[in-house]
Amino acid sequence: MSSLIQTLPKAELHIHIEGSLEPEMMFTLAQRNGIELPYASVAEIQAAYQFENLQSFLDLYYAGAQVLQTEQDFYDLTWAYLQKCAAQTVRHTEIFFDPQTHTDRGLPFEIVCNGITAALQAGREQLNVSSHLILCFLRHLSADDAMATLEQALPYQDRIIGVGLDSSELGHPPSKFQAVFDRARAEGFLTVAHAGEEGPPEYIWEALKLLKVSRIDHGVRCVEDPALVDYLGEHQIPLTVCPLSNVKLCVFDTMADHNLKTLLDQGLCVTVNSDDPAYFGGYLNENFEAIQTALALTDADLTQLAQNSFRAAFLSAADQQRLA
Ligand code: HPA
Ligand code: ZN
Repeated sequence: MSSLIQTLPKAELHIHIEGSLEPEMMFTLAQRNGIELPYASVAEIQAAYQFENLQSFLDLYYAGAQVLQTEQDFYDLTWAYLQKCAAQTVRHTEIFFDPQTHTDRGLPFEIVCNGITAALQAGREQLNVSSHLILCFLRHLSADDAMATLEQALPYQDRIIGVGLDSSELGHPPSKFQAVFDRARAEGFLTVAHAGEEGPPEYIWEALKLLKVSRIDHGVRCVEDPALVDYLGEHQIPLTVCPLSNVKLCVFDTMADHNLKTLLDQGLCVTVNSDDPAYFGGYLNENFEAIQTALALTDADLTQLAQNSFRAAFLSAADQQRLA
């Protein structure tokens, strides 16, 4: 791997903490919690990670998350990811979590939130990794469910900087969550949303205009609408692009087909992210390496992408300077 990638200070803005659950930890937690897994070995788990689309991944991702039961489990999960950050010169990370994946099976919101945020605090103190936490609503569930989840989060607002939208995109447009996002912004949360991963450019427009998001997660289908590309460039709306994820979920056939370099050359605020590193074959530096090779990125491109990650982060100008 190039030493530039290894040493560049970077921010990660699109990582689902449940997606950092490595097969080894899945086994350990299953044993610890007396849960039977439908796999006999780590190798069997890895062999199962062949996806045709977003939904085929989500089915395994939600199944895997069932091993997370206690505050300690969420702490261990988050701590392992933060150690990766420290090893990869990721100086700042904005982590998504999916509370509904856990509250729907009876875990208290508090356990999930306390475990994750205790590890984030330890990461600041012991690893020098800065972080924010973003709550994602599951878009395949109802808007009422999302609103109830937002209400559960209100007592924890000092630990949650924003809200987002993830899970099955097609058939669940951002407009479905307009009232929830209105309320979230009124309560002081920042907003982001997954859009234009599998869904059409119209979903990106809706996320911008109806949900008033600060960033678009993925957004790669914006290229199908030139007026949208112009808008994203003019307003420097960041796209949190996830190259290994996009190839694993067949959004692009091969990495050489990925449009990240095209978007960067058009002046968009593109960032690189890992999405679900345990499922897609790599953390942030492996994503950088994959695009550097397949898209012939220059050192200037890599530096621009790293700079964009701090510019797009929910950090003050002073903190951006300090960390970048
Ligand atoms: N898209 C939508 N939902 C998700 C993803 C993703 O890439 N990863 C985890 N939840
Ligand atoms: Zn994602």
